[in-house]
Amino acid sequence: MTAELERLFVHLRFPSISTDSTHADDVRANAEWLKGQFEGIGLATELHETPKHPIVIARNEYEEGRRTVLIYGHYDVQPVDPIELWDSPPFEPELRDGKIWCRGSADNKGQHFVHLLGAEKTIQEEGGLPLNVIFLIEGEEEIGSPNLVPFLEKHKGDLACDIIAVSDTGMVAPGVPTLGYGLRGITCLEVKIKGPSGDLHSGVYGGAVANPASAAARLVASLHHDDGKIAVEGFYDAVIPLEEWEREMWSKVPGAADDDFLKTTGASAPFGEPGYSMAERLWARPTVEVNGIGSGYQGEGSKTVLPAEAMFKLSCRLVPGQDPDIVQQQVISHLENHCPPGVSIEIEKGHSGKAYHNDPHSKFGKAGQAALEKSFGRAPVLIREGGSIPIIQDMKEILGSDSLMLGLALPDCQIHAPNENFSVENFEKGIEMSRALLRELAK
Ligand code: BES
Ligand code: ZN
Repeated sequence: MTAELERLFVHLRFPSISTDSTHADDVRANAEWLKGQFEGIGLATELHETPKHPIVIARNEYEEGRRTVLIYGHYDVQPVDPIELWDSPPFEPELRDGKIWCRGSADNKGQHFVHLLGAEKTIQEEGGLPLNVIFLIEGEEEIGSPNLVPFLEKHKGDLACDIIAVSDTGMVAPGVPTLGYGLRGITCLEVKIKGPSGDLHSGVYGGAVANPASAAARLVASLHHDDGKIAVEGFYDAVIPLEEWEREMWSKVPGAADDDFLKTTGASAPFGEPGYSMAERLWARPTVEVNGIGSGYQGEGSKTVLPAEAMFKLSCRLVPGQDPDIVQQQVISHLENHCPPGVSIEIEKGHSGKAYHNDPHSKFGKAGQAALEKSFGRAPVLIREGGSIPIIQDMKEILGSDSLMLGLALPDCQIHAPNENFSVENFEKGIEMSRALLRELAK
């Protein structure tokens, strides 16, 4: 194993689960270790405290007249459950089949660590970096970056940059370099349906008292038409339609045909809005998804109960044009208006973030494309991403800078799920990509 991989393995062994307060000390220890890594390559570092998890900042000596790139990433990870489905322990990295298996390997430790290693190699071989570099690696991305916006506002002078580089997205297929020029936004809700004051005998009362589980099912079903289109009034009103050149370009992206998506997901048939390919639905159309649903008896065998309550969690993925607050309110109104009689509804608003997109053919977009081409040996494909990194649009609004998304996670990387993995080849090529990027951006 290379020395670089061994260092990544140390990074991966910290169980830095940001959402779980019992891991707060692990998150902090990870941040301190990462700060040490940046110090070790000769950068000036700071650990910024927040009400939750610290932000790691590292920079080289600022030189007037040079460009500045901010490299963003996150060292926090998702929880590991269901743990029984992992083939090896989630925080004991293993090399198998050319992949690094560990929670956080792809999302996002492996992907930002290549930039640290790229900077290190450049400094070793060239005596310094060709432009001003600021690393910002946060510990709260997986919980919606609640403390990063105030941090950006407070330090926007210090964080001023010409362009932002982010490797926290996907690559469409092995060997196919991918430049992301868009991300979907998000808005989340949690819904409680309340019926009788306590669980009831379903024989004694069933048929004459409204069942909250049935009401929840009806509400969830009311969100979509049979053909997959979203039934919430006004939902699509502000959507900026995807452009013809994008549809044309995406139809040729390797690994992005409907069949490819069916293969990676195991789904039996495409689903969704009529008139769009799966890639178009994923990258440029908004959604309403149920992320969790529950009510009544879940144990073995039957239990004749009429449950007192039901709940479900929703998230909407948003596209450019949509305002998260407006969409959240449209969904709330829809649920309130469609709630069947005999039960009450309580809705709690969750976190939100805006969609983002830029011009992949801009000066910096071309620099990103050149860096990918030089390191992977072929021209990159240009895509938008289905996932969300809300802070990217916040950085656009606060710092005024666009982001290049240089994704290195393969379609089967299983981020947020058991057996997350990161390709060793992409780790190695990623280091070269990062070096090429610094050169291209400095030109
Ligand atoms: N790295 C992902 C986002 C991502 C993954 C973008 C794949 C594009 C392709 C990030 O860590 C993530 O999981 N984001 C959350 C955002 C949320 C918690 C605010 C998401 O997309 O669910
Ligand atoms: Zn994630």
